[in-house]
Amino acid sequence: MTRIVYVNGDYVPEDQAKVSVFDRGFLFADGVYEVTSVLEGKILDFDGHARRLTRSLNELDMAAPVTMDELLDIHRELMARNDLQEGMIYLQVTRGADADRDFAFPDPVKVPSTLVLFTQAKSIAESPAAKKGLKVISIEDQRWARRDIKTVQLLYPSMGKMMAKAAGCDDAWMVEDGHVTEGTSNNAYIVKDGKIITRHLSNDILHGITRAAVLRFAKEAQMVVEERAFTIDEAKDADEAFITSASTFVMPIVEIDGASLGDGTPGAVAMRLREIYLDESRKTAI
Ligand code: PDD
Repeated sequence: MTRIVYVNGDYVPEDQAKVSVFDRGFLFADGVYEVTSVLEGKILDFDGHARRLTRSLNELDMAAPVTMDELLDIHRELMARNDLQEGMIYLQVTRGADADRDFAFPDPVKVPSTLVLFTQAKSIAESPAAKKGLKVISIEDQRWARRDIKTVQLLYPSMGKMMAKAAGCDDAWMVEDGHVTEGTSNNAYIVKDGKIITRHLSNDILHGITRAAVLRFAKEAQMVVEERAFTIDEAKDADEAFITSASTFVMPIVEIDGASLGDGTPGAVAMRLREIYLDESRKTAI
């Protein structure tokens, strides 16, 4: 079955989808994105993703191409056309294609933004990786200073992923001023003496939609949550660690820079949070 993608109002087979070479997403990484997960044919936390998209667009003075209600309809239409039961929907908005290459932003009235969405089928709930846990390395965080805006400039995270692969690991945790910011495409957590520790929100990290949900569920389950920065040494000495994102949900970490955590298998807190997240998210999926 050929994948049907959405480009500026049209649903087209993926090999016929086109964006201009002058598109500012291509020339300047002048674009923002969202990745929303789908379980049993339903979208998880659409409102959270729509709110963060609106915030990212506002922070960059970029016009929203459609309303958030229209965006939900596009998500649903795309899921139906591709028969997506489980996986992700990727959405990207760029500042559109100007007549030429120009650093200055074009007039949004003359140059409409570009909107692209596509589906990615993937088994997220039944993940072999979640049973085994992931290994991470630490690397210096060399991204720009507005990581709270979900922009498409993902070259450094991509390089980080390659550094991890070269080291025989799954991902990298980025470190700035001695403290972990986040994973290449996920938020980072450690667990010590039953306490869940994750970096506080600021411009230094992406405000994960999964993070917000997981912390809410953890507090509802009477777990203790501490939102503060932590070091790699503290992480290596933790009882367990995990990451969260729309494409992994809650994923245990079993090794950091070669040091095994606990007994080297997924921790009990991470596995419990994964279960709670799956149960609760299914209830509110739309
Ligand atoms: N990444 N931090 C970074 C740097 C991310 O790129 C992501 C998401 C997260 C987690 O956010 P959320 O829980 O809203 O997915 C944290 C997506 C999944 C991606 O780039 O594919």
